[in-house]
Amino acid sequence: MTLLLLLFVAWRLTTPSPFWNIPGPEPKSFLLGNLGELLQKPVGLAEFEWQKTYGDVVRFGAALGTDQLMIADPKALQHILQSSGYGWRKSPVRREMARLTSGKGLAWADGDVHTRQRKIMLPGFRAPETKFFVPFFISSAEAMCSVWKAAIAKSGSQSDVFNFPDYISRATLDAIGQSEEPLLSRKNFDFWRTRDYHTICWAMYELARQPKLQAKLRNEIQAMEETIADRGNSDFTLQDFEEMPLLVAMSKETLRYYPVAIHLYRTASEDDRLPLSKPIVGKSGKIITEIPIPKGTQVIGSIQAYNRNKDIFGEDSFEFNPNRWIEGRVQTDTPLGVYANLATFASGMRSCLGWRFTVAELQAFIVVLLRNFQLESTPKLAGIRRESALTMVPTIEGELDKGSQLPLKVTLLPNNL
Ligand code: HEM
Repeated sequence: MTLLLLLFVAWRLTTPSPFWNIPGPEPKSFLLGNLGELLQKPVGLAEFEWQKTYGDVVRFGAALGTDQLMIADPKALQHILQSSGYGWRKSPVRREMARLTSGKGLAWADGDVHTRQRKIMLPGFRAPETKFFVPFFISSAEAMCSVWKAAIAKSGSQSDVFNFPDYISRATLDAIGQSEEPLLSRKNFDFWRTRDYHTICWAMYELARQPKLQAKLRNEIQAMEETIADRGNSDFTLQDFEEMPLLVAMSKETLRYYPVAIHLYRTASEDDRLPLSKPIVGKSGKIITEIPIPKGTQVIGSIQAYNRNKDIFGEDSFEFNPNRWIEGRVQTDTPLGVYANLATFASGMRSCLGWRFTVAELQAFIVVLLRNFQLESTPKLAGIRRESALTMVPTIEGELDKGSQLPLKVTLLPNNL
């Protein structure tokens, strides 16, 4: 074993990297390269810095002097995730991680087994099935609001502070429990649900920070409530959500700005050539329009950096602004992903199956919470941090040991008093 390691190190030190010409940060150490900054800083920070300095394809140091590529270029991602079919696979290590976190499900399966399993599962995740779940999402969110109302009444005031992840986590669990239609095994479902409820938390954080946006969205919700009452129905349907421009824009912007799945790890199963949307200037000074890829190359698809691409999402891509969707200024020249041209749910053969559920659940929670309460920020949120815990979760600087935290002030709306 030691001999093998020594041989590997000797080989690494004497053989030039196939990516020597691609610009990127200097590795911090032989042992870990740049993995420390990539994996330990708040989610996305290292990638945003690299993207700003070097562009959408960046060479960085991985373990034991090896190089990897960070990919945020739309054409390159489209090629890896979509056009190449199974040409770029999840590595055995990543598949094992999928097995440990969500069992021997679809995220673990590969090749023919994956194709077969996906074909079997796909019908459970289409639009009509999602429509069926909406009443459960709404009633679970309402049940959560009742708990808050009771706590507020007990406190003798009109408002109280709640740690959102605690409550939303339970409410999303209830939604699936009530429906009694398990589409995935328990372990598998729990893993994906963590992503859902943290997405809802990030949306609420943004609404609490932006009172004007919150008020505008509440107006849209109240207007739709009147339409629903006029037609004699009692509650929102999926179609109602889809007909609310600001709610739709809010969902897209939340999933763009807070993509809770962090990286897409892929390995080339054959030699390949990676096409680029924009040429890059190599270290040699030569222009690179495509990158030759040796079989076995590992890359990290950066969901975070792609979702901030200025050519696609505009010069203000580092701001949370749902209006970009309403104004129609998001470019779709290189289509990617299953929703809103985002990398959030990956793309192609291994794209997320549950994206429609996530969007519908997010919309149901926004509607129910805003029609009951006003949300406000709390002083603790000055220290909010995007933390990686497989999923991107909100934590508070200096209190990482307390886990996922998002304390928001919740005040009853006058019509609820
Ligand atoms: C915000 C919520 C969610 C996000 C951001 C998300 C994101 C993703 C991403 C990025 C992948 C691809 C991972 C990879 O190949 O490396 C994926 C796969 C998957 N997602 Fe989601 N997901 C979410 C919620 C859900 C939900 C609620 C479900 C189920 C109800 C679900 C079911 C799946 C399944 C089964 C796969 C594996 C697909 C395959 O390998 O063919 N996801 N998801």
